[in-house]
Amino acid sequence: MTYYMPVKIYDGKDTVIANHQAFSGYGTKALIVTGRSSAKRCGALQDVCEALETENIGWTLFDEIEENPSVETVSRGSAAGLAEAADFVIGIGGGSPLDAAKAIAFLMKHNGDATKLYDASVSPDALPVLAVPTTCGTGSEVTGVSVLTVHEKQTKQSIPHKIFPQAAFLDGKYLHDAPKRMILNTAVDALAHMLESFESRKADVFSMNAVLNGLTLWRAALPYLRGEAEPDDETFSVLMRASCYAGTAIAQTGTSVPHALSYILTYTLQMPHGPACGYFLDRFLSFAPEKEQAFLLQASGFRDFRDFSSFLQNAVKEYDVPAETLQRAYDTVKQNTARLNGCRFTIDETVLHRIVFNTEA
Ligand SMILES: [Fe+2]
Repeated sequence: MTYYMPVKIYDGKDTVIANHQAFSGYGTKALIVTGRSSAKRCGALQDVCEALETENIGWTLFDEIEENPSVETVSRGSAAGLAEAADFVIGIGGGSPLDAAKAIAFLMKHNGDATKLYDASVSPDALPVLAVPTTCGTGSEVTGVSVLTVHEKQTKQSIPHKIFPQAAFLDGKYLHDAPKRMILNTAVDALAHMLESFESRKADVFSMNAVLNGLTLWRAALPYLRGEAEPDDETFSVLMRASCYAGTAIAQTGTSVPHALSYILTYTLQMPHGPACGYFLDRFLSFAPEKEQAFLLQASGFRDFRDFSSFLQNAVKEYDVPAETLQRAYDTVKQNTARLNGCRFTIDETVLHRIVFNTEA
């Protein structure tokens, strides 16, 4: 059993400003990597700039990360960072900017050579990365994973290099002005991380405890996610922490079949990541041993399987997934034996077919 979690986590209200000293020691100029607007709108970019200025550290901004960032985009980010002689990277945002920040930090250490991104034989060295999440699903702030869109393969794919941030700064205040739909989508992603991790063959007592701690936090926000309660500061804090716990779990175990299937839906239909995972999550869990299903659903705050399923239906109902897209997802994941065998319960072709199509093969 090996548990590896090298990320220093700073948690709490105004944590970026309060821990400004934590930004020093990595370099003299930061490349800040964000999406187009949310890092500015939620105040995280301003906080990070203030912390850097307090520490007399320079910075330059690359704010061109799109949803599901491509290899081309991270190459441009790396070129921008190299041109500005940045020597560390700060990702602010959801999974897309954080994953992009890791890939950019890798590329900058390899002279911007994008052919090395998916070459497992090269050294995984990267510039230091700091992460400030502004959504509550990715967990990317505490994983080594960077998933990029690979147009050549018409899907999303993790780079083979594990690039853990040096530090993560969690502050629920960044969720305050986020659209409810985005919070729901990312909270479904965090739930998928926890349930998939728990059922992983690589799960151990540490990763399972992270899942249970995460689910206990997540369930406190469920009334808000269901639209039955107004959120307060605590709601946003618990969602941010649950997402982080979920990230520490998948950092050990990886994700499972719902995530593998989701990448095709996201690439083909531009379906957001959380709903794309949620689309398969209930049928995936339905094949787990009954006792574990009951245990996990109770820990997540659901009354029963039907309640869980209808919550997910509500989260994904606006997305129509054509049969040919499902077929492509099925055909792709069917060949991914490592992913299928990585689950503690049996996922053979028949089970996979039922997870994807809700029918017998
Ligand atoms: Fe995910």
